[in-house]
Amino acid sequence: MSGHILAIDQGTTSSRAIVFDAGMKMISSAQEEIKQSYPKPGWVEHDPGEIWTTVVNTARKALADANVAVVDIAAIGITNQRETTVVWERKSGRALYKAIVWQDRRTAEVCDSLKADGYEKLFSAKTGLLLDPYFSGTKLRWLLDNVDGLRERAAAGEVCFGTVDSWLIFNLTGGRVHATDATNASRTLLFNITEGRWDDELLGLLRIPAAMLPEVKDCADDFGVTDRDVFGAAIPILGVAGDQQAATIGNACFKPGMMKSTYGTGCFALLNTGRDCVASSNRMITTIAYRLSGKTTYALEGSIFIAGAAVQWLRDGLGLISQASESGTLATRADPNQQVYVVPAFTGLGAPYWDPEARGAIFGLTRNSGPAELAHAVLESVAYQTLDLLIAMRKDWGGHHIETVLRVDGGMASSDWTMQRLADVVGNPVDRSAVLETTALGAAWLAGSRAAVWPDHEQFGKAWACNRRFQPSMEEAERQTKIAGWRNAVSRTLSGQQ
Ligand code: G3P
Repeated sequence: MSGHILAIDQGTTSSRAIVFDAGMKMISSAQEEIKQSYPKPGWVEHDPGEIWTTVVNTARKALADANVAVVDIAAIGITNQRETTVVWERKSGRALYKAIVWQDRRTAEVCDSLKADGYEKLFSAKTGLLLDPYFSGTKLRWLLDNVDGLRERAAAGEVCFGTVDSWLIFNLTGGRVHATDATNASRTLLFNITEGRWDDELLGLLRIPAAMLPEVKDCADDFGVTDRDVFGAAIPILGVAGDQQAATIGNACFKPGMMKSTYGTGCFALLNTGRDCVASSNRMITTIAYRLSGKTTYALEGSIFIAGAAVQWLRDGLGLISQASESGTLATRADPNQQVYVVPAFTGLGAPYWDPEARGAIFGLTRNSGPAELAHAVLESVAYQTLDLLIAMRKDWGGHHIETVLRVDGGMASSDWTMQRLADVVGNPVDRSAVLETTALGAAWLAGSRAAVWPDHEQFGKAWACNRRFQPSMEEAERQTKIAGWRNAVSRTLSGQQ
């Protein structure tokens, strides 16, 4: 059998499809942006129909460009923006509301009231997460409370809930399979990550009918076959993982102590903690890194909501650059004597602050501050935020061996200036993956290894290649001064309500 794999990567800002050959090389790809809707301050929505059509369009295009017969695609791997919440009618497959995106803050009050009632500990102990609007559970609760008749219909089994992976699997299989994988389930606030099942007590607290939940499978598992109408052949779907977990796999962080950080819309750092389900004391979250052959590997995760999105803001909001790739060049022109800080809390602050009410702020402006200083501060903010995560993770898993090297990928990782500044600020080497499409590669590996056409994780790990290592080179005194300036800026940005 041919070892070609189709990876579907449905992200926050675009849908991508990539065909890899048997040698794990990318041979074609296609991408379509998806529309972001902000119907109210703090709300972020996507159109589930558009998510689906862009996935089909890009997959068809990538398949056509790959010049391989569809029957020679051994399997499909899916990876996706996590937490984004979709509800649809089981019978017709019709979406019943817009997809509520992970960045959406509309459930801040529900989270506050659950916290005030003392439930955060219970949710954390069972799910590894915090009571923040980021996760799916309170978004689903909002839908059940606000869409007419939804709760009754859901209880009667007429409605499906899913994260984006489930929505895609359902559509790809012509409505035959309603399933998710353990990594996506672990982001819902409804899944007990030590027992590996939906948690009845949490479902009761959030008033969510169990009948609407998908079946939870391993990441490399049988998720059904595509309906012939979609690609003209029945292709098995054999791999599924949330995008950050897929990037962990794509970066071959299979050993406990290995760490990766992906710079997409947001930035997500994951530390593999193996079989150790570490409860964070430093406001990190505990998540499922992957579940293979029924065995769960855990990770500590630090989630930053805004990374590449801040570069988009420089481009689209301020018009300071015309393409994201110009940001590094602009930053090099900044006056080194100015200490400008941007705290990009556009949708609140994630780990380790968890402040949904905080909003972005700029500090240290003078009359000499201009576009270069702003670009500099925006790119540096990503490095400081990463440092905050690494410090917290090291404290949480103290006493264990944690690699000093941080593996990086994602769009922003292509900026040499940003990656050098990241190494300088975190004070550790940063290894940039040779394949920047690590997320898609991770999903493809899950499918390819399950189909027995790609190597096992050890061989895959050996094949992982570094494109460039960035060594820290900043003087320690300068580093400490800059970090102190960042801490001061963050403390002045927090709302006081976190
Ligand atoms: O948790 C949200 C994350 O999965 C989104 O990733 O790459 O779409 O920014 P990305």
